[in-house]
Amino acid sequence: NKIAIFASGNGSNYQAIVDAVKNGALDASIELLVCDKPNAFVIERAKKESTPIFAFEPKTYETKAAFEKEIVLELQKREIELIVLAGYMRLIGPTLLHAFSKRIINIHPSLLPSFPGKNAIGQALQAGVKVTGVTVHFVDEGMDTGPIIAQESLKVEESDTEQSLAEKVHTIEHRLYPETIQLLFQKSFLWEKEEASR
Ligand code: GRF
Repeated sequence: NKIAIFASGNGSNYQAIVDAVKNGALDASIELLVCDKPNAFVIERAKKESTPIFAFEPKTYETKAAFEKEIVLELQKREIELIVLAGYMRLIGPTLLHAFSKRIINIHPSLLPSFPGKNAIGQALQAGVKVTGVTVHFVDEGMDTGPIIAQESLKVEESDTEQSLAEKVHTIEHRLYPETIQLLFQKSFLWEKEEASR
């Protein structure tokens, strides 16, 4: 069960997945970290965990297709089965989507389809919702669209700030993401069974 994690920032979800592998809750091996921000903290985490790193500077490529082609080669070389987006702040383009059709998942800090895009937690607070949560979904060409795999809700309290809500969201994410990945592998991705039975 070979996975690649894509991240752009702090990488607490990367860490949660690594930890789940280490403690045996997740039967997978993390073969690669892909990062579009060479100074991101997630790179430090990956070095510490000895995860191979493919870090790149998007500006140095002429097109998205150009850097995605390089990423696809890296992934194929390592026989990656599943791409896990964990705070990767970039839309996935057709090059990656076609090469890894139905094999890219994302985690988003709201109950989609509410509050897609940036600062979902701030958006939820601003809207005054009483319930928000976390969504894991398959990635398509849209921004935080694509079939939903798992969701978990949480209550927004009167006293919640963006920071307190973010903490609650992260606590859920760090449990839900490894759990969901494990489930996907256990069920052989569901769609493969569907395809096989056709
Ligand atoms: C998470 O809240 C995730 O839902 C969103 O980006 C954030 C990444 O956090 N897509 P981290 O880098 O894993 O700490």
